Amino acid sequence: MGFVNKRFLPRSLHLFLLFDLLLNTAGGEAAKVPAIYVFGDSTADVGNNNYLPENSPKANFPHNGIDFPFSRPTGRFSNGYNAIDFFAIHMGFRRSPPPSLSLSNKTNHQIMRGLKGVNFASGGSGIALDSMGSTITMTKQIQNFAMIKSNITARIGSKTADHLLSKSIFLISTGGNDIFAYYSQMNSPNNTGEELFVTTLVSKYGDHVKELYTLGARKFGVVDVPPIGCCPYSRSFNATGGCIDKMNELALGFNNAVRALMRNLRLTLKGMKYSIGSSYEVVLSIMKNSEALGYKEIKTACCGAGKFNARTGCTPNATYCSVRHHYLFWDMLHPTHMTSKLASLAIYHGSQNFATPINFKQLVEDEV
Ligand SMILES: *[C@@H]1O[C@H](CO)[C@@H](O)[C@H](O)[C@H]1NC(C)=O
Ligand SMILES: *[C@@H]1O[C@H](CO)[C@@H](O)[C@H](O)[C@H]1NC(C)=O
Ligand SMILES: *[C@@H]1O[C@H](CO)[C@@H](O)[C@H](O)[C@H]1NC(C)=O
Ligand SMILES: *[C@@H]1O[C@H](CO)[C@@H](O)[C@H](O)[C@H]1NC(C)=O
Ligand SMILES: *[C@@H]1O[C@H](CO)[C@@H](O)[C@H](O)[C@H]1NC(C)=O
Repeated sequence: MGFVNKRFLPRSLHLFLLFDLLLNTAGGEAAKVPAIYVFGDSTADVGNNNYLPENSPKANFPHNGIDFPFSRPTGRFSNGYNAIDFFAIHMGFRRSPPPSLSLSNKTNHQIMRGLKGVNFASGGSGIALDSMGSTITMTKQIQNFAMIKSNITARIGSKTADHLLSKSIFLISTGGNDIFAYYSQMNSPNNTGEELFVTTLVSKYGDHVKELYTLGARKFGVVDVPPIGCCPYSRSFNATGGCIDKMNELALGFNNAVRALMRNLRLTLKGMKYSIGSSYEVVLSIMKNSEALGYKEIKTACCGAGKFNARTGCTPNATYCSVRHHYLFWDMLHPTHMTSKLASLAIYHGSQNFATPINFKQLVEDEV
């Protein structure tokens, strides 16, 4: 379905509803799935934290969003879109579905009919950081989804709701903050302690996935943890400016365990499908091929202050670079619009190197 001008919309109500369904993209190509439900941290947040107290991680001020339409700071930790926006675009939507905390009763007819979806992600949250008061924990994000699901069910009936949910995509992008938190309090590093940490964390991850499955989720698009030891924040603590190897090691250990977890869950959860997109492999690959991809700077953040622009966040009085797509990182922790674009492309269409056991496109197209 190509571009459809509003004046071509038919008058008949029946047809109108049909077109409404086909056009729930709000312009552009028709959506390939009914809805996208998003869970996770600042790599996925599109503005939920704007509604939280002062002390929660926020990005709803300049220079964030400088390359977003109308240079609007939306709460995304990016100069433009984040990876979730690009996944949504690949799936035929305009960008990420709206933040759950932005929903008011009146304005969400499509969402309440099980279309378009909702983004529950909250910057600073983690898989097991459930004691942190200033973010929406994963547990709470799933409760918020359960509430939306009951609204949808009340509107369209449980049979239709379950059918639409089973065809919808559930994106999860989390884990990095748990690893940061663990790393920062490690005092006597040892393999036993690290293995226990990863096992415990991945077990909690499994609980969240099972909870979503129970609520009707069938198609999971999981984004793994990037090489967080190589972000400007981490590098700024290495005298040589290299990556913090231990952080990457923890991220890799976690990512491998998540692969094993999802393989096992698929054996017990009937009808469950998944793809794990490797932001780890994508970022590593960008670092290796940065020049060919048009990057000029892969260590220093575009926006910030101090060493590697990583001593402060991207606040209104921080400096920022003029050519954003020359930078791998937007701020001390987060990728630029360009990096998210490349990452989502690799994970959506890419080879086994970037997404296993299938890529996101196959996940979308698979019949449930
Ligand atoms: C939404 O609806 C509930 C009842 O279903 C009501 O209590 C609440 O005030 C409404 N909120 C808004 C913002 O209209
Ligand atoms: C969902 O339903 C609950 C209970 O009726 C209501 O309070 C809430 O506002 C609804 N949420 C939305 C986004 O409409
Ligand atoms: C190993 O690490 C764990 C957790 O980090 C810690 O509690 C434990 O004391 C450490 N063991 C040794 C022998 O250092
Ligand atoms: C710091 O970077 C160097 C490479 O430049 C690396 O060899 C070293 O292990 C890194 N230090 C830490 C603590 O990871
Ligand atoms: C920005 O300005 C405020 C007030 O002048 C100051 O407290 C803060 O440290 C500054 N931040 C940066 C990144 O320079």
